[in-house]
Amino acid sequence: MSGNIESVLNETRTFPPNEAFTKQAAISSWAQYESMYKESIQDPEKFWGDVAGQLHWFKKWDRVRNWDNPPFAKWFEGGKTNLAYNCLDKHLNTWRRNKAAIIWEGEPVGERRTLTYLELHRQVCKFANVLKSRGIQSGDSVAIYMPMVPELTIAMLACARIGAVHSIIFGGFSAPALVDRIHDASTKMVITADGGYRRGAVVRLKDTVDEALKNCPTVKSCVVVKRCNIDVGMTEGRDFWYADQMHKAHAHCPAVELDSEHPLFVLYTSGSTGKPKGILHTTGGYMVGTYLTTKYVFDIKEDDTYWCTADIGWVTGHSYVTYGPLNTGATVLMYEGAPNFPESDRFWKIIERYKVSIFYTAPTAIRAFMKWGDEHPKKHDLSSLRLLGSVGEPINPEAWMWYHEMIGGKRCPIVDTWWQTETGSIMITPIPGVTPTKPGSATFPFFGVEPAIVNDKGEELANGQGGFLVIKQPWPSMLRTLFGADDRYKEVYWERFAKQGWYLAGDGAVRDKDGYIWILGRIDDVLNVSGHRLSTMEVESALVAHAAVVESAVVGFKHEVKGEGIAAFVILGKGQDKGHGTAEALKLHVRNMIGAIAVPDQIHFTDALPKTRSGKIMRRLLRDVANGVDTKGDMTTLEDLTVLAKLRSDEE
Ligand code: WTA
Repeated sequence: MSGNIESVLNETRTFPPNEAFTKQAAISSWAQYESMYKESIQDPEKFWGDVAGQLHWFKKWDRVRNWDNPPFAKWFEGGKTNLAYNCLDKHLNTWRRNKAAIIWEGEPVGERRTLTYLELHRQVCKFANVLKSRGIQSGDSVAIYMPMVPELTIAMLACARIGAVHSIIFGGFSAPALVDRIHDASTKMVITADGGYRRGAVVRLKDTVDEALKNCPTVKSCVVVKRCNIDVGMTEGRDFWYADQMHKAHAHCPAVELDSEHPLFVLYTSGSTGKPKGILHTTGGYMVGTYLTTKYVFDIKEDDTYWCTADIGWVTGHSYVTYGPLNTGATVLMYEGAPNFPESDRFWKIIERYKVSIFYTAPTAIRAFMKWGDEHPKKHDLSSLRLLGSVGEPINPEAWMWYHEMIGGKRCPIVDTWWQTETGSIMITPIPGVTPTKPGSATFPFFGVEPAIVNDKGEELANGQGGFLVIKQPWPSMLRTLFGADDRYKEVYWERFAKQGWYLAGDGAVRDKDGYIWILGRIDDVLNVSGHRLSTMEVESALVAHAAVVESAVVGFKHEVKGEGIAAFVILGKGQDKGHGTAEALKLHVRNMIGAIAVPDQIHFTDALPKTRSGKIMRRLLRDVANGVDTKGDMTTLEDLTVLAKLRSDEE
């Protein structure tokens, strides 16, 4: 980690927010941020109670925060609310009734749809009735496996409306990955589409669902949106077309009054060991956290057109495509497809057409844009933009500067937002009207977030020293547990600093001399590939599941666009061919087992892996090989020095 620390600490450029932005911002002075922050930490019950009071509750809570039984938090206990009600019904008695809630653009050029709040409400009510007619009740688990179409938003809000727990599975995952997630949550229904468009091709989602459902006895029904008009198999009695069901459904469906702690969704994410973890979020706290961050981090205004480019299959899409912005009554732009289809200027075209004012994307996308060339953004008028955001991984200063100059025209503040699936909402971030930013730093904590950077004994480190990022107090939108795995929840996040009662984020961080927080990346075996979390273990187990493979070790390496690429070191069985054909077969195998995002960029065949005398794979050494750098540091624990020399000579 030390090389990384030196490079971040050498960054001296600072960018104060421009005056015009500050003037109109919801938080417009540093003193205001400081006093709100102070209150949020010293009197969280008062602070969060006031925030929750800005939202709709059928019944007010009895207690804001219950941390009597850590690490199991409860927020707004006794309160009754409904997040779909807050995202929809609440707006219908205001002028927002006829405001665009979702402006959608399909990938095929020319396809557009706009849903007003009134229309979105109607569709959600109807689909909630479809869910009920198929036997879905409050508390049931519903899997959603869809392309980025408005029906995805409708489906998730319909679940929230009746208290069903959605489990959205990113459309790039393969059948075995679906099976794991469906099993874990005992899902009763799957909502999908025949297919989706990606870079001009059709991704056949329903085929994947059919493959998965052969092994999913809990699933009783499957609702299918016709998106691409392709032929797909429909199993009698199990599969139903979305349009047919909607046609029959009533448009009246009151939002259920749910307990604040009623489960809202499960979202699977990778951890350092074993299978993906089902992160469980509940209603009231998540609602309050996503609402407040949308309001202050994006400084959202009534007339903004807001675009977060994340797929709803990831947490960013849950919190900042759907729940946060709709709760604030924003106009949300949603785009189905790839940024470079049909040309590399698609995003800039969209910004120009709809006059997007807030744009939130990932560093991996920014690096791809840089590579594709300045001529693409330059062709378009991007002057409608007033705020830019970044999320998913540390943004390298070079990409930050390009984003600032080329996209933001040097006038837009950039909010580099650090958070996680587990945290539910943004945790460390600039406040756009007041925080002077530094390229690559997520800067300071959001309200109610008390971070610290500590060593393994839990001692707080001085500025300039890197360590574990921990959060010292519970916050409303924190995960409540891992679905069906309370012990694992305790172990993964709370065991390391159990004495202090701190949340372990799994990232390394450092504060610079001015107190700015710089995130240094994961401290465990989790890779961050194009902003998506993958565990090395998952890829390894997919590889060893292939008949030709005996053992494998997977590490990350620095990748120009993806941030981190995947390198696999593979020991083949006797007599297996070490040629290109085998490497390609293994890549295809990983794609089939997990999905395209997990396909290794490098495959190294080897006869042995560098191990310690106790048999632990020395990943640090493999990372050096994958990165093409010389190994520094201690190798005394390496069992057989010739292994490393051999790995390197295989490279030539
Ligand atoms: C990384 C995505 C640096 C981090 C919202 C974290 C970041 C993991 C940033 C969570 C950022 C996310 N700067 N690193 N602004 N945002 N990360 O669960 O390693 O998909 O732990 O949530 O992404 O990824 P997840």
